[in-house]
Parts: sequence; C-alpha cells; structure tokens
Amino acid sequence: MKILMVASESSPLAKTGGLADVVYALSKELAILGEEVSVVMPFYGNIKRSPDQEIRFVANVQVPLGWRFQNAKVYKTFIDGITFYLLENEYYFGREGFYGYDDDTERFAFFSVAVRNMMQALKIKPDVVHVHDYHGGMVPALIKIQNSRTKFFNKMKFVVTIHNPAFQGEFHPDLLPDFYDIRKEYFDDGTLRYRDKVNALKAAIVFADKINTVSPTHAEELLTPEGSKGLDGILKLRKNDFSGILNGIDYDEFNPQTDKHLPFRYGKTRPGIKTKNKLELFKELGIKGDVDTPLFSMVSRLTWQKGIDLVLPAIVEVLEKGGNVVVVGSGEHGYEQALEELRARYPDRMAIYIGYNNPLAHRVYAASDFFFMPSLFEPCGIGQMIAQRYGTLPIVRTTGGLKDTVIGYDGTNEDVADGFVFDNYDEYWMKLTTNYALEQYKNQKVFKKLRRNAMEKNNDWSEAGKKYLALYKSIVK
Ligand code: GLC
Repeated sequence: MKILMVASESSPLAKTGGLADVVYALSKELAILGEEVSVVMPFYGNIKRSPDQEIRFVANVQVPLGWRFQNAKVYKTFIDGITFYLLENEYYFGREGFYGYDDDTERFAFFSVAVRNMMQALKIKPDVVHVHDYHGGMVPALIKIQNSRTKFFNKMKFVVTIHNPAFQGEFHPDLLPDFYDIRKEYFDDGTLRYRDKVNALKAAIVFADKINTVSPTHAEELLTPEGSKGLDGILKLRKNDFSGILNGIDYDEFNPQTDKHLPFRYGKTRPGIKTKNKLELFKELGIKGDVDTPLFSMVSRLTWQKGIDLVLPAIVEVLEKGGNVVVVGSGEHGYEQALEELRARYPDRMAIYIGYNNPLAHRVYAASDFFFMPSLFEPCGIGQMIAQRYGTLPIVRTTGGLKDTVIGYDGTNEDVADGFVFDNYDEYWMKLTTNYALEQYKNQKVFKKLRRNAMEKNNDWSEAGKKYLALYKSIVK
C-alpha cells in the first residue's frame, strides 16, 4: 500500500514536539511492514543540509493562492526506507521557526494546496493520504471538493490523526475562496464552520474517511466539550469512524543499551549504572548534591498544557527534602523565569537548560530517578514512555495517554506498577504524590521493583503499526 503522510514536522529533519517523533517512527514502522511510505512537509529555513544526506531537487510546482502566484520547489530525500518530499518556498518557509507567525493561515494554505498540486504534477498517487493535525487539515476537503471526479483522485482515501486539539487552524471565512478557491457556501452551510471561523481541523474531521487520536483515553476525552476544545459535536457525528491508537516510542533512538549520548550504557539487568550517569550529569550541570539522593527531572515544552504550575511547587518540595532537580525545555517566558528563580534559590541542587538539546535530554532520562509530567491534557505523551524505558519513574496526572501508559503505585501493586499517578489537577495532589515517590526512594526494595517494571514495559511501535495498517486497509478496497 502507498501511504503519504502530510505533516508540518517530522524527525529527523524538523522537530518542535512529539508530533515529529510520531510521524517519523510510524512511517519507519510501516516501511518495515513492507508498505511504501512517504512524508511531505515544508522545507524550513533551518533544516540543515548535511553532507552525508543527499537532498535532491526534483521539480518546480505551481501553487496559485488566489491572485498570489507562488510556486513550491520540491526536494526529495530517503531516510530509513521513507521518502521525504520537502516543499520549499523562501517567502513562506525560509524562516527560523516553524509556527507562530501572523501569516500562518496563509503559510499552511500554501502548504495544503502545494501538497495537492505536487501529487498531480509528480503523479504521486497514494492509496491513503494521512494528515497529521490541522496544518494539512484542508487537504482532504480540497481534493474531495475540487478533484474527486478525476480518475487520478477518485479512489484516494484520507485519514486524519489528531495529536493536539488545542490547535485547530481557524481562519476568516473570506480566506476560504481567497486562498483555497473553495466557495463560501461551505462555510455558510456549516460544513467547514466552527463558531464564526473556518476551522481546518474540523474540515479534516468532516472530509476524512477515518479519524483517530493518539490514545484510547484521549479518544474518549475528545467526545467531551472540554477534552475536544469544542470539536466534540462533529466528532460525535463521525463516531463510527473514530478511534484511539496509542503511540509508541522509537526503540532505536531511545535505547539505554545502545544510546550514544550516554556516558554509561545499561539495560534491564544493570539499572544500577544509572547512578554513574547521575554522577556524570551532576558534574556536567554543576549539581553538588549527593548521588545517593534522588533526582527528579522534566524534559518538556514549557507551556500551559504541560502542568508546569504543578511542577513548580513540587520542585520546592523535592529541594526542601534534599533531592535534586533538572529541567530541560523552553517555552513561555513566565515559566522560564519562575524556574530560573528557583534555580537561583537552590543553585547547588537544581539545574535548568532553556532550549532544545536532544543529547542532554537523553542523559537526563538516563540519570534521573523520577520524571515529572502532570499535564493538564496530554493526547498521548512521549516523555513518560521514554522515562520508563530508561528506568525513570514517571509522576503523571491521569489524563489522555498518560492514563493509558502509567500504572500508579498504590502501596500494594508493586508487581505491576511502573510510576506514580494522581487524578485532580491540583497542587495538593501533586505534592502528595511527589512526597509518596520520595518515600518509595527510601524503600529501595519497592523502588527497584517499580523501576524494573518500567524497564520491562513494551512501548515500541509494533502494535500501533499494525493498528494503523488495519485502519488503512479498512478503507482501501
Ligand atoms: C502532541 C500531543 C502529545 C502527543 C504528541 C504525538 O504533541 O500534545 O500528547 O504525544 O502530539 O502524538
């Protein structure tokens, strides 16, 4: 089967969050299963052309957006059995960052129209076009409205995966004819409308053949107004075509036995080596705490979604009780500052790294005892699964994929538990759970058992790969 992933980011070329990991790892898994997979994404200005990675120019494709005559230079490269198509346009994508610009609506309209025009121009005819999040959300609508009668497009099927319902790609209805050449009636009759805007994610939900999200629990949450950020109504109408498939993590990249970023590698049988990694990390980051005292960490985008409001008081709790803390991430300025203030108060036992640093993140996962991830909402979450594989016990709130991947210790279930959980988004519960984790650290027998359970858990992509393939097969005749 031929599958084309449409995404705004994919590892190893461009990443700001979990979306990039998932697009890449899922594509790799499908390629291993023998499918023909390609990914199409923007060629951002900061994608590096490394000498050992040949990126070849293949064609110039015209992309008129209303009166704006644009074109996309299509580049192609192969990585791990996946074909990547990179769409270059200096005006839209030749910038430092990926998102957050005033003209994002226009940039991703360009991307969506370019994806369709590229398929036509280069005769790329996938059986399934798999759209991720809102960025290419208009692609199914575009093709079904404008091209479905042509032989080239009429059998094509569409899947949309919702990774994050907090971003829906809303825009003014006048832009529908202007950018997409789609008649305003599609807004007026409600098809593409949510409140008073066109909504690209809703468009994908309406026009895709199958819709899914990245964990079973989040699939349930998406059927409620809070969980779906308002898209529950339309998802309920598509309920029969909607499901949750739990993400995995990339077992090649995240493997403490082979991880080239670690000073000391280790596996399930010798998790004690984590202490050596802790010592090295303490040296690297200037932490003066004793290596026998616990290390709590967080590797995350520092945004409201991630529960930083709860982590801040929990950090104080840990530091007051003699533990150590490392935070790696970047995001909202207020959070960065709050963390910096805490670090200044406890300079010997807390370190922060503001920014994205993948090798350091690996070392932090390996060196830590506990991992904070008390998200407000979390469609799947990847950090908690990486932590488990590295023998670091996650402390999570039971939301979305966190609920589906962490079994909380309750004082009796040490045969199965592999982390700590609480339900309410509330400082009280966060502190209580953090203190409970600290207690178990003193009770090394339980702590080691939980750590072993975490390391033995299987979160690779094999299950999810099969489920996606089954989903595709259910629509491709
Ligand atoms: C988004 C979600 C996160 C999920 C990731 C990959 O970043 O917020 O929960 O793990 O997408 O699906």
